[in-house]
Amino acid sequence: MNRDDFTILRDSNLVYFDNGATTLKPDMVRERIDDYYNKYTSNIHRGDYQNSLMVSELYEECRDKVRDYINAKHSSEIVFTSGTTASLNDIVFGYFKYKLNMGDEVIISESEHASNVLPWFKLQEEIGIIVKYVSLDDKNEITIDNLKKAITNKTKVVSLAHVTNVIGDVRDIKSISKLCHDNNILLIVDAAQSIAHVPVDVSDMDIDFMAFSSHKMYGPTGVGVLYGKFNLLQEMVPRNYGGDMNAIFTRDGYMELKDIPSRLEAGTPNIEGVIGLSRAIDYISGIGIDKISKYEHELRDYLVSRLKELDFITLYNEDNYSTTVAFNIKGVFSQDAAIYLDKYNICVRAGNHCAKILKDVFNIANTCRISLSFYNTRREVDLLINVLKNSKNIWEEIL
Ligand code: ALA
Repeated sequence: MNRDDFTILRDSNLVYFDNGATTLKPDMVRERIDDYYNKYTSNIHRGDYQNSLMVSELYEECRDKVRDYINAKHSSEIVFTSGTTASLNDIVFGYFKYKLNMGDEVIISESEHASNVLPWFKLQEEIGIIVKYVSLDDKNEITIDNLKKAITNKTKVVSLAHVTNVIGDVRDIKSISKLCHDNNILLIVDAAQSIAHVPVDVSDMDIDFMAFSSHKMYGPTGVGVLYGKFNLLQEMVPRNYGGDMNAIFTRDGYMELKDIPSRLEAGTPNIEGVIGLSRAIDYISGIGIDKISKYEHELRDYLVSRLKELDFITLYNEDNYSTTVAFNIKGVFSQDAAIYLDKYNICVRAGNHCAKILKDVFNIANTCRISLSFYNTRREVDLLINVLKNSKNIWEEIL
């Protein structure tokens, strides 16, 4: 679907199955960034000349587009960061560091990405919060019952991925948020792996904080979004101080800061990245997230059914309803399998995928991961299957 929109797909026989790591970029995103460099380079919010005013408008327009894309109530609830990692760190160290006390509990899961684990470990070290794990069921998924069991009167935060990056389980965020709010718990959602693949509606799901990256949704790298409900963001302490976030300061140390979101975006931001993200949102909206989701899930079903034909493949998440499929060739180290597939121009990710605790749950340290996008095809899946069928000679080919 829409493959012609991507130069990299038009001009090569690349089979790109690593969309969970980053997505390819359509021409219209690159053209917007080219235009910024070639036609109207300027800083934002600081210039009284035409180019600067115009680029400032494009930058703020992106905030409105993100607001609409995730159905937030206000544009001021959208803060631009450098990526999901930065957004999650801002949430932990700009908000919860000042709100939590020793002994307060934060619930995460063993399948979270490092970015939703390590900041909490650091806060545990700094102020003595307790990081707890909700038990996963036999499919490595979270159930509401297990979450209920993990919650105590000390629980203040639940922080979970919407879709996890290795096993790709899709969490029922709406039910989780109801359970959290019934117990006065705030909910943080890492939407990095879901934002380009399924509808994400922060109002309907009643999410308190959310983080995601532009580069996993067909936009440029180096840009992320931090969403927070207005009242929560108002209480966030900036992690950076400098230009464009202050209203006034004097030599004796007095300062007044601007309103949100400006006061949370100190310094010159990634302007070309943000206006590139704006085009990426236009691009996704032009196709339609429901259409993307339907196509990708049908393709995933096809991929799983074809992989199941191969008795030398171990599948780890055939029942999970996402675009991610984790597998191994029996007896072959996952990185060797990835190097072998690369010989045929097939890109998959191998390893622990930054979810290092999960290996203790899976009892397996490394997997190959296919993460699909709408530009992948059944023909590509068939090619993968044929290459895997011939993998008996893998050692001759990669050594
Ligand atoms: N977090 C990215 C992934 O899962 C890089 O591959």
